Amino acid sequence: MGYLLNYSGMYLHGAGYTILVSFIAVIGGFIIGLLASLARLSKSKILNIISAIYVEVIRDTPLFVQVMIIAFALPQIGINFPSFFGLSGDFTGAAFALTLNSGAYISEIMRSGIQSINKGQMEASRSLGLNYWQSMRYVIVPQAIKNILPALANEFVTLVKESAILSAVGISEIMFVSGAVANATYKAMGPYLVAMVLYFIITFTLSRLIGRFEKKLNSNGR
Ligand code: ARG
Repeated sequence: MGYLLNYSGMYLHGAGYTILVSFIAVIGGFIIGLLASLARLSKSKILNIISAIYVEVIRDTPLFVQVMIIAFALPQIGINFPSFFGLSGDFTGAAFALTLNSGAYISEIMRSGIQSINKGQMEASRSLGLNYWQSMRYVIVPQAIKNILPALANEFVTLVKESAILSAVGISEIMFVSGAVANATYKAMGPYLVAMVLYFIITFTLSRLIGRFEKKLNSNGR
């Protein structure tokens, strides 16, 4: 197994990409998800429909297909993603695919979070003179977000694991590196076990951090 040490730099690099792309996706997904959930709950029929289609299409098709379409099909019709801060266009495209995917799941998390806030909160803020959107912005959504933080953290962990799919489009995250090492060494056990350990370390650490954070949230009132 000592031969794997020669590849430790590559693995480290891969772990960095895995964490980076998941982080981008959960942040971007949060923004898209928030907008989509508000659209879904708004009184505008057209916004309802657009949001519902987005969420259903994403959730009812494999992430793998979405990634393939964004990475390979869109460029063929002239849609290319720009490079960004030294990250390649391929990377931004893949990150976008994961972000778009996560947005749909987060939208549903957000929607149930918003719907779980007591109706009286909306009535109270409306009676104080805030309009619908102001009430959402200052009263409902902040409470909803606090309640769904654990679910959002969970989504982050999911993304770390799901990002393995991006190896199929050449993003040099953990699985891509493992595959490259397996090919180079004609060995599979070592390279993929390292992948497993790396994923485990990342997700386990994340869950722990999240657990602590949740405790803290619960202790300062609610
Ligand atoms: N394996 C599922 C798929 O291929 C995962 C979707 C990603 N899930 C998520 N929470 N973002 O569709």
